[in-house]
Amino acid sequence: MPKVDLHYYPESPLLTKFLLREQDKLLLTELHPSDYPILRSEFAKDKRAQVLWQDGFQQLKSKLPPSSRRGIILIDPPYELKSDYQSVVNAVLEGYKRFATGIYAIWYPVVLRQQVKRMMHGLQNSGIRKILKIELAVRPDSDQRGMTASGMVIINPPWKLEQQMRTFLPWLHKVLVPEGIGHTCVEWIVPE
Ligand SMILES: C[S@@+](CC[C@H](N)C(=O)[O-])C[C@H]1O[C@@H](n2cnc3c(N)ncnc32)[C@H](O)[C@@H]1O
Repeated sequence: MPKVDLHYYPESPLLTKFLLREQDKLLLTELHPSDYPILRSEFAKDKRAQVLWQDGFQQLKSKLPPSSRRGIILIDPPYELKSDYQSVVNAVLEGYKRFATGIYAIWYPVVLRQQVKRMMHGLQNSGIRKILKIELAVRPDSDQRGMTASGMVIINPPWKLEQQMRTFLPWLHKVLVPEGIGHTCVEWIVPE
């Protein structure tokens, strides 16, 4: 990745752009009418990328499998709609039917633990194997407003990710929360 002078968090599309190789392809979707043109202009001159003003959940049905037969799908909705938790499960099921060897990386916030638990149960009952949960909490769970933790669910995680996270997450937690509240977790919610 090139050395950049960071003033803002660059967000996943830009991080991906730095990592993309010449032969790779990137499909991005953004539904927000003001964010979409910004994202499109960021990739206007990049032949590897396609930016769609469409529902990302639908793309798992219409665009998978990729012709390369290898790929990673990042699912990163805002969860402002409660239905997003179930939409994630439905979209992953549709995607997995078409592309079972893909890596699926699903970000989730912990605002109300119950919502996350329902999403996890949906994934655990889907029949999909090899699901790793990675989570970092900076506060204990709460029923008050606000995010206390966030995590990633990774289906078909790359080799060594589990091991790397078991080293990296406790370090990150110590840096972010020196007083030691909250937790880290690296757990197979469905093993191989
Ligand atoms: C949590 S942000 C993540 C953005 C990006 N992945 C990042 O790292 O910054 C969620 C984004 O998804 C967009 N969005 C929400 N629902 C969507 C959907 N169904 N399809 C495509 N984009 C959606 C929102 O407008 C917002 O820009």
